[in-house]
Amino acid sequence: MSRLAGKVALVSGGARGIGRGIADLFAAQGATVVAADVIRPEPGSADGRGEHAQDAGAVAFEWLDVTDEDAWDRVVGVVEDRYGGIDILVNNAGVGSYEAVHELHAAEWDRVLGVNQTGVFLGMRAVIPAMRRRGGGSLVNISSIYGAAAVPGSLAYQATKGAVRSMTRNAAITYAAESIRANAVLPGWIRTPMTASQTAEFNDAVIASTPMGRGAEPLDIAYGCVYLASDESAYVTGTDLVIDGGFLAR
Ligand SMILES: NC(=O)c1ccc[n+]([C@@H]2O[C@H](COP(=O)([O-])OP(=O)(O)OC[C@H]3O[C@@H](n4cnc5c(N)ncnc54)[C@H](O)[C@@H]3O)[C@@H](O)[C@H]2O)c1
Repeated sequence: MSRLAGKVALVSGGARGIGRGIADLFAAQGATVVAADVIRPEPGSADGRGEHAQDAGAVAFEWLDVTDEDAWDRVVGVVEDRYGGIDILVNNAGVGSYEAVHELHAAEWDRVLGVNQTGVFLGMRAVIPAMRRRGGGSLVNISSIYGAAAVPGSLAYQATKGAVRSMTRNAAITYAAESIRANAVLPGWIRTPMTASQTAEFNDAVIASTPMGRGAEPLDIAYGCVYLASDESAYVTGTDLVIDGGFLAR
């Protein structure tokens, strides 16, 4: 249980859902973890397969709006000052959006791009100097199956998740020689507050299109993130890790 021993990790959107699952599993695997979010984590609440891997107290919390570049600099500064550096950033914060092109207002487009796309850019930009000081690092960017496959509607969401994959590959080759790796994770349907807020019709359609015939839990994504964050994946950069019950293999 020490695959991340000695590592310092920052997880955006780490208060609930997939980000909370990642933060808790990283802590259980020996990392020092800061979860950063616009909401506070619920202490000790059950998530996914059952209890959190760690008490909420094992994960430090910092307020962060990923669209705010000054907030990123502040949080990265706090993490470096407090823990001596930063090895891992998981750009997980994200918002859903469901409108098709003809329904989508420009303000909604801007909102979704701000969090899901600009937030990932600002996060990588904020931590890369700190990772250089550390001599390397791992950037894990949460995309989606909808960054690779289209479904009707959800234009802004799908646009951002495709962009996350492109930005990840760009960062991977730009910083490869400095041992800063960047990889994307493409989850399928995961049980979180985000999917709980979607219509039953939407959720049922995604699960019906999933060869395994079911969704999954935040922990299923967190295990993949542990691999990408750890030294086990030292030669892995610029890739997509698809965790989707077979959705994209169809
Ligand atoms: N749940 C799924 O089925 C699924 C599938 C594929 C990809 N994803 C992606 O996984 C990530 C996490 O999704 P989730 O299902 O856990 O969603 P969620 O809504 O349950 O959690 C998202 C978290 O991000 C935080 N957040 C939102 N805006 C923020 C901002 N501006 N600054 C900081 N934090 C902010 C929220 O407060 C929340 O804690 C997202 O990027 C999402 O697109 C989810």
